[in-house]
Amino acid sequence: MMLPPRPTTLAHEFASQALREGDLAVDATCGNGHDTLHLALLVGPKGKVVAIDVQADALEQTRARLESTGLESPEIQLIHACHSRMGEFVAPSSAALVMFNLGYLPGGDHTHTTRADTTAAALDQAVEALRPGGLLMVTCYPGHPEGAIEAETVKNWMKTAASHHTARIAKYSQPFTRTPAPILWLAAKPCDMAP
Ligand SMILES: C[S@@+](CC[C@H](N)C(=O)[O-])C[C@H]1O[C@@H](n2cnc3c(N)ncnc32)[C@H](O)[C@@H]1O
Repeated sequence: MMLPPRPTTLAHEFASQALREGDLAVDATCGNGHDTLHLALLVGPKGKVVAIDVQADALEQTRARLESTGLESPEIQLIHACHSRMGEFVAPSSAALVMFNLGYLPGGDHTHTTRADTTAAALDQAVEALRPGGLLMVTCYPGHPEGAIEAETVKNWMKTAASHHTARIAKYSQPFTRTPAPILWLAAKPCDMAP
């Protein structure tokens, strides 16, 4: 039976379509490194991945995951910082893709969850970092209290981006679930936007 795909699975599929070898990709919440590894495989040895997390342990997990593959790695920059500082590490109009997988690490310390105010600031930075035609992807988890507040903030951010024509927006989620299901937002920076 074909079940509706999870937002995180879809995000990987969209990344596969958006990225080419040699591209720069940003993982704004690298956590255990699953997403960073996927991006690294897509951009290949000539590409670059910037992976950000506020938890030093998460960066260690990501480093270990990348090393364990034994693949020829692209240049990977692991950054221990809040993603709202993205502009310090990624040049304007340089990234083909920026992805956020919000919330906290499953099985990890829930106090290290992403928060509405810094997420909104980071989304502004992400649009700056994207090259024209680049893709922003945000997975939100409204099923926990902080995540519900954050999901509302992300929705409002997307609405503003659409109305100001700074991005073209799409949304995927499963309706009619017992607890609010994760939401995947896509925001494509228009190609005709001056870099
Ligand atoms: C759902 S997990 C990410 C999962 C990860 N992408 C993976 O593939 O395993 C969310 C991550 O966001 C991180 N985080 C929380 N607040 C952050 C912030 N302000 N800036 C950057 N990372 C943050 C957490 O430490 C956690 O590792």
